[in-house]
Amino acid sequence: MKHPFPLLAALLVSTTAAARPAHAAEDLILADFESAGYPEGWTATGTAFGSGPAQGALPGQMEVRGFIGRGLINTFHGGDDAKGTLTSAPFKIERPYLNFLIGGGKDAVRSAMFLKVDNKTVRSATGPNDRPGGSEALEPDSWDVREFLGRTATLEITDQATGGWGHLNVDHLVQSDRAAAPPMLQARRDFKLAQKFLLIPIKNGIPTRKVTLLIDGKKEVVNDIQLADAAPDWWALMDVSAWQGKTATLEVDRLPADSTALTTIRPADGPEGGPPLYREPLRGQFHFSPRRGWNNDPNGMVFFNNEYHLFFQHNPYGWDWGNMHWGHAVSPDMVHWQELGDKLAPDDSGPMFSGSAVVDWKNTSGFGKDGKPPLVLIYTAAGNPTVQSIAYSTDARTFTKYSGNPVIPEISNGNRDPKVFWHEPTQKWVMVLYVEMPGKQHSIHFFTSPNLREWKLASITKGGIDNDKYLFECPDFFPLPVDGNAADQPWVLLAADSQYAIGTFDGTTFHPTHSKLPGHRGRGFYAAQTFSDIPAADGRRVLIGWFQTPTSGMPFNQSMSVPLELGLTKTPDGPRLTFNPARELSGLRAKSNPLKNLTVTPDAPNPLAFSVSELVELRAVLTPGDAETVTFDIRGATLTYSPKKQEISINDIHAPAPLRNGRLDLAILCDRTGLEIFAAGGLTYIPLPFQPKPDNLSLGLKVSGAPVLFDSLEIHELRSAWK
Ligand code: FRU
Repeated sequence: MKHPFPLLAALLVSTTAAARPAHAAEDLILADFESAGYPEGWTATGTAFGSGPAQGALPGQMEVRGFIGRGLINTFHGGDDAKGTLTSAPFKIERPYLNFLIGGGKDAVRSAMFLKVDNKTVRSATGPNDRPGGSEALEPDSWDVREFLGRTATLEITDQATGGWGHLNVDHLVQSDRAAAPPMLQARRDFKLAQKFLLIPIKNGIPTRKVTLLIDGKKEVVNDIQLADAAPDWWALMDVSAWQGKTATLEVDRLPADSTALTTIRPADGPEGGPPLYREPLRGQFHFSPRRGWNNDPNGMVFFNNEYHLFFQHNPYGWDWGNMHWGHAVSPDMVHWQELGDKLAPDDSGPMFSGSAVVDWKNTSGFGKDGKPPLVLIYTAAGNPTVQSIAYSTDARTFTKYSGNPVIPEISNGNRDPKVFWHEPTQKWVMVLYVEMPGKQHSIHFFTSPNLREWKLASITKGGIDNDKYLFECPDFFPLPVDGNAADQPWVLLAADSQYAIGTFDGTTFHPTHSKLPGHRGRGFYAAQTFSDIPAADGRRVLIGWFQTPTSGMPFNQSMSVPLELGLTKTPDGPRLTFNPARELSGLRAKSNPLKNLTVTPDAPNPLAFSVSELVELRAVLTPGDAETVTFDIRGATLTYSPKKQEISINDIHAPAPLRNGRLDLAILCDRTGLEIFAAGGLTYIPLPFQPKPDNLSLGLKVSGAPVLFDSLEIHELRSAWK
C-alpha cells in the first residue's frame, strides 16, 4: 500500500536505513557473475539466459550500465521474446539484508527475481521499465530478510515476458548487515501553481526515473528524468504556465528514500542557478540555443502574426536527447529570439518528433476562430504505432492537439518528419514524409489534403532518388528561382544532411532532373528546415539547421545555425543551391572596419592585427591572381584558400570554392561555439562547431606566392543577440 505521506515516509526511512550497525559482519557474496558460466549448482532453463552471464549489452540492446565488474545476468539472449528461468543453488540466509543490482523490465509476475523459502515466494523484485523509452541501467535494490535468518532459501530469476522490456538484468547478489540501497518509494509532492515553472534538479549521466506530472489529479505527462538525489548539476525548467492556479502533483515512481529531489523542487519564473542567462561562457551569442536542456531539429518554422516562430526538438530535462517536446521561440527578425516555453509535450501517443507548421489562411481545417486563421502544427507522435498528428492555435501561444489524431496512421515504424505546404495550382495541402523501411529503400512519401485532416497518398519516390543513397530524415520541399528568375523555379527536395535533389513537381509527383547533390561542406549541421509563410513581397526562402555545438558543463546543449537565405544559381553543371547569411544579421554589427582596394604582399604585416573582438563577421572579396595561398586566422582556427585548387581548407575539411571572374567572395561568422563560412556566392557553406579560446581574440591574414588584391575587406564586431 502507498504510504499516505510518502515524502514523510521517505524522510523517516532515510534516517534509519542509512545507519550502519557499529560492528557489521563482512558481506557474503552470493554471486557476482564474473565467470564464464553460471555459478555451480545454478540451473538455467529456456534460452533467455544463454549459457552464462553476459558481458554488458547483448546484440540489439541499448547500452547496459550500472553492473559491477564485467559480467551480469542479462535475459536479452535472443531478444525480448526469449524465455527462461534461472534457479540458484540453495543457500543459508546469514545476514539481515540481501542486496543486489537489478534493471530491465517491470513485470512482477512474468519477469522478476523471487526469493523462495520453503518453496514459498517471500520477496520479489523487478526492473523499472514498463513502457517504451527508459533505461537498461541496473540500480541497487535490497530485501530485508531478518525474519528468515538461519533458513535455507533459493533465488529464482524468471523471464516469461515477451515484447517490449521482456527481459531482466541482475548482478551482484550480496548478503549484508545493511541495506545496500534505501528502499525505493513511490513518492509524490503537490504544488499550487502560481509561477511559470517548477525547477527540477538534474544530475547528468545517472539513470533516469519516471516523473509523472498530474494536474488536479489527472496525468498530463511522464518524463524520464536524471533526477538529482543530492546536489544537482543544473536545474531544469518544467513549464507549468498552462495550469496556473491549479494543483500540480509530481510523482516519482522509484525514489530512493534518502533522495532530496522532491523536497528541493521549487516554483520559479525563469531559470535559476549558474551564470546569468545567455551570458554563460559557452552560450552562442548570435545562435539560438534553449535556456535549459537539449535541442536538436528546428520544427514548425513559420512566419505568423508578424513574428517568426521557431519550434524545436527539446529535452527540457536532460543535457542529452530524450523526452521530445516542441520548445518554442519567437523573433521579429530571425536573429533575436525569445524562448516562450514548451508547446507540445509527450503524451500517450509518444514523444513529439519533428514536423512543420503552416498558416491555414483559408481556414480549410476549420480550426480558425472569429475570422482568425489557425496556425497548424504537423508532427510525428513517435509512440507505438508511430503516426502523424496535428495541433492548432489562433494566438500562437497555446496549442490544442486535434481530437481526431492521428491524421496519418503508421506506414512503418520509422515514418516521420512531415513537412507541409500549400500548393496553389492544385489548391491542396501537400505533405512530404520520410518513410524508413527497415531492410528496404527509404523513401519520401507525398500526400495531399484539402483540409490538413484527411490525407491521401499521392506518390512515393523510387529507390531513394536515382537509386543513389537514400534521402534521409527531415525532408523539406519548395520551389526556388534560379538566379532570381521568377519564371524559372525548379523544386528542391532537401534531406536532413542537406543533400538535395532538383526537379519538377505537378502537385502529386516529384520528377528529379538532378540526383542527390551535396549541400553544406562542413560538420554538425543537420535537419534544416525553411520558414513557411514568409510574405510573398519578401519572397525569401530562409533555412535554419540544427547546429551540433556541444556545450559541456553548461545547463544547455546544442544550438541552431544562423538564418540562411537559400538560392539557386546556374553553374556549368546545372543549377546549384546557395546558402548565404540572412541580411538581418547585419543588424548585429557594432563596429565596422571596412578596407578597400588593399593589396596584401607575402611579406606584409598582418593587416587585421587591430581586431580584438570576440564575435566577428569577416567579409572579403579578393582577386588571388598568382598567389599560392590566402590564409586567415580566426581566433585560433586556420582557414586556407588555395586559388590553384579553388578549395577552402579548415581543420580536416576541404571544400570546393570556385573563383568567379577570378574573384572569391568570402564571409566568416565567428561565435563562441562555432564558425560559419560562406564563399563563392553561397555555393560553399561550411558550418563548423568550434570553441575559440576565450582569451584568443586574434585575427590574421597572410598570403603566399604572390600579392593578393582585396577589392574589399571588412571586419565587423558583432553584438550579442541576447537581451
Ligand atoms: C533528426 C531526427 C528526426 C526525428 C527527431 C527526433 O535529427 O532523428 O528524424 O523526428 O530527430 O528528435
